[in-house]
Amino acid sequence: MLLMHDAGLSWKGMLATWLIFLLSVAIAFGSSDIDSLLELRNSIQNDPSELILNSWDSKSLDSYGCPQNWYGILCSEGNVISITLDNAGLVGEFNFLAISGLKMLYKLSIMNNQFTGSILHIGSMVSLEFLDLSLNKFYGLVPPNIAELSNLVYLNLSSNEFGGPLLIDFNKLERLKYLDLHSNNFSGDIMQIFLLMGSVLHVDLSSNSFSGTLDLRLGNESFLSSIRHLNVSHNSLSGELFAHDGMPYLDNLMVFDASSNQLVGNIPSFTFVVSLRILRLGCNQLSGSLPEDLLKESSMLLSELDLSQNKLEGPVGSITSVTLRKLNISSNKLSGPLPLTVGHCAVVDLSNNTLSGNITRIQYWGDYVEVIQLGSNSLTGMLPNETSQFLRLTALKVSNNSLEGFLPPILGTYPELKEIDLSLNQLSGFLLPNLFTSTKLTDLNLSSNNFSGPIPIQLQQIPNNQLVSAENFSLVSLDLSYNNLSGPFPSNISNLYSLEYINLCVNKLEGTIPDDLRVNLRGFNHFILEIHC
Ligand SMILES: *[C@@H]1O[C@H](CO)[C@@H](O)[C@H](O)[C@H]1NC(C)=O
Ligand SMILES: *[C@@H]1O[C@H](CO)[C@@H](O)[C@H](O)[C@H]1NC(C)=O
Ligand SMILES: *[C@@H]1O[C@H](CO)[C@@H](O)[C@H](O)[C@H]1NC(C)=O
Ligand SMILES: *[C@@H]1O[C@H](CO)[C@@H](O)[C@H](O)[C@H]1NC(C)=O
Ligand SMILES: *[C@@H]1O[C@H](CO)[C@@H](O)[C@H](O)[C@H]1NC(C)=O
Ligand SMILES: *[C@@H]1O[C@H](CO)[C@@H](O)[C@H](O)[C@H]1NC(C)=O
Ligand SMILES: *[C@@H]1O[C@H](CO)[C@@H](O)[C@H](O)[C@H]1NC(C)=O
Ligand SMILES: *[C@@H]1O[C@H](CO)[C@@H](O)[C@H](O)[C@H]1NC(C)=O
Ligand SMILES: *[C@@H]1O[C@H](CO)[C@@H](O)[C@H](O)[C@H]1NC(C)=O
Ligand SMILES: *[C@@H]1O[C@H](CO)[C@@H](O)[C@H](O)[C@H]1NC(C)=O
Ligand SMILES: *[C@@H]1O[C@H](CO)[C@@H](O)[C@H](O)[C@H]1NC(C)=O
Ligand SMILES: *[C@@H]1O[C@H](CO)[C@@H](O)[C@H](O)[C@H]1NC(C)=O
Repeated sequence: MLLMHDAGLSWKGMLATWLIFLLSVAIAFGSSDIDSLLELRNSIQNDPSELILNSWDSKSLDSYGCPQNWYGILCSEGNVISITLDNAGLVGEFNFLAISGLKMLYKLSIMNNQFTGSILHIGSMVSLEFLDLSLNKFYGLVPPNIAELSNLVYLNLSSNEFGGPLLIDFNKLERLKYLDLHSNNFSGDIMQIFLLMGSVLHVDLSSNSFSGTLDLRLGNESFLSSIRHLNVSHNSLSGELFAHDGMPYLDNLMVFDASSNQLVGNIPSFTFVVSLRILRLGCNQLSGSLPEDLLKESSMLLSELDLSQNKLEGPVGSITSVTLRKLNISSNKLSGPLPLTVGHCAVVDLSNNTLSGNITRIQYWGDYVEVIQLGSNSLTGMLPNETSQFLRLTALKVSNNSLEGFLPPILGTYPELKEIDLSLNQLSGFLLPNLFTSTKLTDLNLSSNNFSGPIPIQLQQIPNNQLVSAENFSLVSLDLSYNNLSGPFPSNISNLYSLEYINLCVNKLEGTIPDDLRVNLRGFNHFILEIHC
């Protein structure tokens, strides 16, 4: 019966050994799909929600002999077509052999369970189009005969314990569009894979032990022209990126992530990769200057650029791109003044470089910016006290520079500001009262400056507004350590309802700490007060 059915399918030309194998499966486990599922059920050692135990009942069948209301099973005219057992906490050695006789099974999805075992028998499930084994504990090699699954469109083996080289003839998987192998321990030369791969859309090989040089120009042309999402981050790739002259035609590439490898050399021009939206090359050893074309207004659609933790040198020119939203060029050796403009960027991380010159330049950074990170540079000058732009600013982090002067009163008026870190500078003068009674600000770090005067928590100055009460004060973490603050210990600190951490170490405060300090605080049981260091 099995053989008759096989003859009706297009793979009748398959090797004879293949048919013999299938036949032996049929004999061993019975040709009925129900028997196959019951065999599979027997291999499940733990079913914490009893999903399968309670529903996979051999008496519950419809008139075609299909399972009726069996958890996770779809069946059509007597043939099981889909098994979906995602997120069910199932434990056991998954019995692929038991279900290898399901002739019409197009989907097997068992992601996020605790299945173990090897997948050496997977190659016989030739009807599969969708195979998701991600987030389990499968181990061992992926057998070359996985290439027999010629109908496969989606293959997800991510987050398992697979390893070894991938000796798969991807050429045979002609319908494959999505391949996700991330977070395993696969090894071998990555170009061996790209040479064989056809017109896929999404390939994630990240977090493995792949090696070799990323010379995509040598890749299969149908691969290069079709790939949209390519993630090869967190591997051991070395050499220059695209060492051959010019760029391959990556016409559809939208996401490219090669961060956390050992890539060297200059950053190639990506300007011909017209669809590119996300480019991440952080945590490599790339050198040379910033690729200015990526920061300029152009026909590119780039919205995220991460070149952090490399060895880039030279200045940061004005950013005029109108598509770039997130720029991370932190932890390089960039120098010179801050850029005059940052285009439409929402996130600008230039921290841990050797940028110098006046911080006041940020006053021209416009209305789009939400996160400014400039810590650990050599910036000087005073924070700007002028225009009231920064309507969207949520984080201002400029610690470990040489800022001087007073806190500008305008700082307390940026409507969305949640985090301020100006620690390790030479700021002086008085603290601003409105920072303490903000209803947005959660983290304030002014540690290691030269602020003086009292801690101005002036709750009586809050307008008698029905809408704002102590419960609305948002401050969670307050670090004023290593300054020159004086006056009495601010006992009304206990009205800052959300506070969980205060550091007042090394100041000149007087008086006693009230006994009932904590009782009002929402997080009183994990509240920390540092006062003697
Ligand atoms: C593969 O599975 C993981 C974990 O279940 C998931 O996060 C990821 O998005 C999947 N990959 C694709 C290409 O769908
Ligand atoms: C990963 O594979 C390499 C060999 O390619 C091996 O030396 C290493 O122990 C494996 N790591 C893990 C966590 O299995
Ligand atoms: C490139 O991939 C296509 C489609 O999978 C295939 O037909 C062709 O043989 C491959 N070319 C090479 C050189 O491997
Ligand atoms: C690439 O993979 C890494 C690790 O698996 C992941 O953290 C990162 O978000 C991925 N990159 C993109 C652009 O999705
Ligand atoms: C920039 O990249 C570094 C790692 O290279 C990371 O720690 C940091 O959080 C990133 N910055 C932003 C704003 O995402
Ligand atoms: C700062 O950058 C240097 C390299 O320029 C790097 O070694 C260091 O880890 C970075 N520090 C932080 C906190 O990221
Ligand atoms: C402050 O920045 C200098 C370089 O400007 C760096 O060497 C040092 O580690 C940074 N300190 C902290 C605490 O980040
Ligand atoms: C920084 O610039 C401001 C305004 O442009 C100017 O008043 C100030 O003197 C400058 N500070 C330094 C240290 O150059
Ligand atoms: C900042 O601006 C405010 C109002 O525009 C003004 O009252 C104040 O004197 C200025 N402070 C400094 C330090 O320039
Ligand atoms: C405040 O900044 C200092 C110096 O940068 C740092 O050591 C400290 O951990 C920060 N405090 C908090 C609460 O993050
Ligand atoms: C700190 O400010 C006081 C005035 O409040 C001043 O006398 C002292 O010199 C300043 N210290 C430093 C290190 O700038
Ligand atoms: C203050 O908190 C109350 C209750 O938590 C809330 O209803 C009100 O909207 C808050 N007011 C503001 C201005 O956030």
